[in-house]
Amino acid sequence: MCETNLLEKAEMYLKLCYRELDKEHLYENRWNEVKNSIKDNGTYHLLDFELNYGTKVAWRNSNKCIGRLFWRAMDVFDERNLNSEDSIFEALFRHIESSTNGGNIKSTITVFSPETEIIIWNPQLLSFAGYQNSDGTIIGDPKQLEFTNECIKLGWKPKMGKFDILPLVIQIGNEAPTWREIPQKIIKIIPIEHPEIKSFQDLQLQWYSTPIISNMILEIGGIEFKAAPFNGWYMGTEIGARDFGDEKRYNILPEVAKIMGLNFRDKNSLWKDRAIVELNYAVLYSFKKSGVKIVDHHTASKQFMQFIKKEKKEGREITADWSWIVPPISGSTTEVFHTEMNNDVKSPNYFYRIEPWEAT
Ligand code: ARG
Repeated sequence: MCETNLLEKAEMYLKLCYRELDKEHLYENRWNEVKNSIKDNGTYHLLDFELNYGTKVAWRNSNKCIGRLFWRAMDVFDERNLNSEDSIFEALFRHIESSTNGGNIKSTITVFSPETEIIIWNPQLLSFAGYQNSDGTIIGDPKQLEFTNECIKLGWKPKMGKFDILPLVIQIGNEAPTWREIPQKIIKIIPIEHPEIKSFQDLQLQWYSTPIISNMILEIGGIEFKAAPFNGWYMGTEIGARDFGDEKRYNILPEVAKIMGLNFRDKNSLWKDRAIVELNYAVLYSFKKSGVKIVDHHTASKQFMQFIKKEKKEGREITADWSWIVPPISGSTTEVFHTEMNNDVKSPNYFYRIEPWEAT
């Protein structure tokens, strides 16, 4: 980032941070310090509380996220001092275990040093492998084909199952990426069953408890944190509608329709719609049964409307991406569907990156 840009972003964030945290009396001094640091070193170091609050405002500003009512409540692990491979893997394991919290999922972020080039290759810390057979068919999660291939290139042995948890892959600076298997005892897997349709179990579906995004860049005050994995808890439709339902993912709807005895030659039978609802019912039921926190889309939509109201009360207009906020099933039955949204991008925020194996 060029110096004027960084200066501008730093000033904007520090103003916001010190205003919202009632620290305005400290602002002038701090701003002078940061300005000088940027002039002398081309960068600056965020104080602990500035980083902590920035991770949360970045969440508050995440236009695609429906779960933002809870933006103030996030565990922040500040791991900016770590630079050895062992300690970074340990910190990632700690994140998985602590955020999963025995099923009572806690929103959590781990922030690594912006200066030591640490790259986490995984798109999520927990994910299922995808393998392509020589006849073109795919086993597992098609979304992870590329990353799975990279893991195999690095020496990880493919297991050829539908639900194989991938290893963690990290890269420090110009060193070669290295991988470690995630200890099984810190992974919580939820077998999917349906409360009424018993043959659902025969599909042998399962999912992991905690969605920990690790391929986004956290930007606070112009400082970019390339390694900053974060998580909330699942909304049922993410798994039931998209991960299982999308044709380019597990594509399970035809099998569900089959066990439900639906006529899937006739589009008017709405077999996809009926199957997707039962599948989502099964996901919510199974997570609850396993004692893992999850939210249904109706509750999440209500919470989002509350978020809008609360932000307004504090004098802030929220920004949001309607096409992401509206749940992928039963959209019009939720209030967010009927709400206009402004998709401007604010800072701090989380941004997409180029996948490391594609970067030259
Ligand atoms: N949609 C992604 C998945 O199905 C997870 C994205 C983050 N989700 C969340 N509830 N924080 O794995």
